[in-house]
Amino acid sequence: MAARTVGEGLIPGGRARAEFPIFEHSVYANSCSQGALSRRVRAAVEEWVSGWDENGAEWDFWVERNEAARSAFAGLLHAEPDDVAVTTSVSQGVSALVSALDLSGERNRIVISEYEFPTVGQIAHAQELRGAEVVHVRPDADGRIALERFAEAIDERTALVCCTAVSFRSGHRHDVGAIAEVAHAHGALVLADSYQAVGALELDVRTLGADVVTGGTVKYLLGSAGLAFMWLRGTLRASLVPTHTGWFADEDIFAMSIADYSPHASARRFDSGTPPVPSLYPGVAGMELVAEVGVPAIEAHVRGLVDRLLAGCDDLGATVATSRGENEYGPLVCVVSTDPNALVAALAKDGIVTSSRDSNLRVSLHIYNVEEDVDRILAALAANRVLLA
Ligand SMILES: Cc1ncc(COP(=O)(O)O)c(C=O)c1O
Repeated sequence: MAARTVGEGLIPGGRARAEFPIFEHSVYANSCSQGALSRRVRAAVEEWVSGWDENGAEWDFWVERNEAARSAFAGLLHAEPDDVAVTTSVSQGVSALVSALDLSGERNRIVISEYEFPTVGQIAHAQELRGAEVVHVRPDADGRIALERFAEAIDERTALVCCTAVSFRSGHRHDVGAIAEVAHAHGALVLADSYQAVGALELDVRTLGADVVTGGTVKYLLGSAGLAFMWLRGTLRASLVPTHTGWFADEDIFAMSIADYSPHASARRFDSGTPPVPSLYPGVAGMELVAEVGVPAIEAHVRGLVDRLLAGCDDLGATVATSRGENEYGPLVCVVSTDPNALVAALAKDGIVTSSRDSNLRVSLHIYNVEEDVDRILAALAANRVLLA
């Protein structure tokens, strides 16, 4: 197993920070793109290569690691492992999900918020080739997408409503539960892409309201690209039979049959081909770290930092695109800039790692950030006030 460099009792910002060497030279505030690399995730990657080198094909162990990933995702979501598909990306899961929808009849609409990640929008539009109509729900002038906008778009023709939990482009959080109530009243399913939330905000699929929840390990779960999940409400599964499939979705993987299509009874029916072995090692290690600290503790820690950042932005007179209501923001703050790429570059010169989308600088805070990071970011913003809108 991977060497453990820390013991029990990790707390956000404290001993947890010491796990991430990048802070020895940088202020890392870009977890919305990729979580920082921890020592134990590095050790897990090395364990994969060593095992391969020493033993060749470690198939049994790889399959076990796939199940460890399924259990870890389930734990984070307060779900049962049987309700979780292990995928290589959100794209793979969502493509399989829509492949299970009959879009040829009256109920052929996919409603998507304007804040969806490109992959969700593009997969929805791809279904136009199968008879779907895509309806966009756009934000109001204040950047919020009011519940009424969803209510106007959803009706008996709606098959699926896509409302990302946290927008990658504005940091805005949807009220998934309220949207789901409207959707369910019209018989529609709800997909909450939670990539920008999972690991940083407590997600409980028993109360969230969505029928399908997806996300992956690249960001707040502190793993690598190539590993993702899709949770499906257990009662829906039998009626959702994907045509986008693979042999690891079969009821008996090792039967190796080419005689028929017999999808697994559990959410595994949305798995696909060979498990993403190189990504399982870092993904499981990253999730273990998150679970050890605890998502509620991370959420509380991050809220304190984000509030400090927002207050500092207000003092600077900066325009913040992220909505500010109690449940409208999470770990990602988007600051409007006249030239976001120049602002990212200016902050990078000060050793601060951020990113940009649209006309926003994206600052995202996580388990490892501390108040001094926020203060350095604010000082750098003050020094580059000319780039703030
Ligand atoms: C909200 C959201 N969804 C999905 C993705 C990635 O999707 P995929 O796993 O298909 O690459 C990202 C990554 O940037 C994201 O921010």
